[in-house]
Amino acid sequence: MEANHALISNHTSQIDFLPLQGTDYVEFYVGNAKQAAHFYKTAFGFQSLAYAGPETGMKERVSYVVRQHKLTFVFTTSLRTDNEIADHVYQHGDGIKFLALKVTDAKDAWIQTTKRGAKSYMEPVVLEDASGKVVISGIHTYGDTVHLFIERNDYHGAFLPGFKQWESDYNPSDTGLLYVDHCVGNVGWNQMNKWVDFYEQVMGFHNILTFDDQDISTEYSALMSKVMSNGNGFVKFPINEPAEGKKKSQVEEYLDFYKGEGCQHVALATNNIVQTVTELQSRGIEFLKVPSSYYDELLDRVGTIDEDLAPLRKLGILVDRDEEGYLLQIFTKPVEDRPTLFFEIIQRKGATSFGKGNFKALFEAIEREQDQRGNL
Ligand code: FE2
Repeated sequence: MEANHALISNHTSQIDFLPLQGTDYVEFYVGNAKQAAHFYKTAFGFQSLAYAGPETGMKERVSYVVRQHKLTFVFTTSLRTDNEIADHVYQHGDGIKFLALKVTDAKDAWIQTTKRGAKSYMEPVVLEDASGKVVISGIHTYGDTVHLFIERNDYHGAFLPGFKQWESDYNPSDTGLLYVDHCVGNVGWNQMNKWVDFYEQVMGFHNILTFDDQDISTEYSALMSKVMSNGNGFVKFPINEPAEGKKKSQVEEYLDFYKGEGCQHVALATNNIVQTVTELQSRGIEFLKVPSSYYDELLDRVGTIDEDLAPLRKLGILVDRDEEGYLLQIFTKPVEDRPTLFFEIIQRKGATSFGKGNFKALFEAIEREQDQRGNL
């Protein structure tokens, strides 16, 4: 094991043993996939892509697949009570089960990660239909969350073998959401560094940014975060853990209601955040609001930006700058009944960071919501 470790650390700076081409899809286990898919089509502007269920030979479950540009979401519900999907929903409420990563060799991805200590979720399997071949393997990460490795070099079907194309007469227009920018995991007390080690040693990621409780604390609550990135930067997983504050950390509230560790938010990229957020708000998506005073000193803090201030203030869009440029971001309220999963909408204009300058204003907004739920 020791020799193995030495080998790994020598190699991480030279070759990428787990080359990733990006996020393939995000799959949610939910109580009602049909209605979830409708919500994501209506409110977020996804389009119908594929379906699997009893009609396609899957007796125990249904899955609806929706897509918007390079974003693919899958919503899966169990038709029975006694299986992994039903248990997951009972335990966690609606939540993210799979963060599926696109690879050129799913068998090798599984071999490389499991030999470095990953717990296998599924050994490589080959799925085939008339449209070609897909290879899938998977490993466990924090909580009940799983990384699948998807190799679809030779596949031309709608989504995966076993799915049929989902043609719908209901096709709301898109909202300009393009791809997954990052997915954040919430882990338990003192577990952040364990998962940082996992992403470094098992998946060959590196730590590109660290926020301690001094960076991310308000009067009341605190958290710590480390951002892990794969070699080419296509896949970024920040990991949060709660920190001691006067009152309950937002990460703790998540852990309580999700009943464990899991994915806290997915950041979705857009090229025009004002247009995207205007559209999302008009379709009923609710966002966290910072006080209007945030905008009074904004330009002093971030310097000149291309956007007019008025729409940013009206919509509640936040701005932050780093050495490379600036970014605009906004966070939805939790999208489900439990205060767990939410989304970030992000537009990067050069900046590669995560909006540290906004943390205080943002977390105070989160705490106001937490307080209203009686969980602060
Ligand atoms: Fe984020």
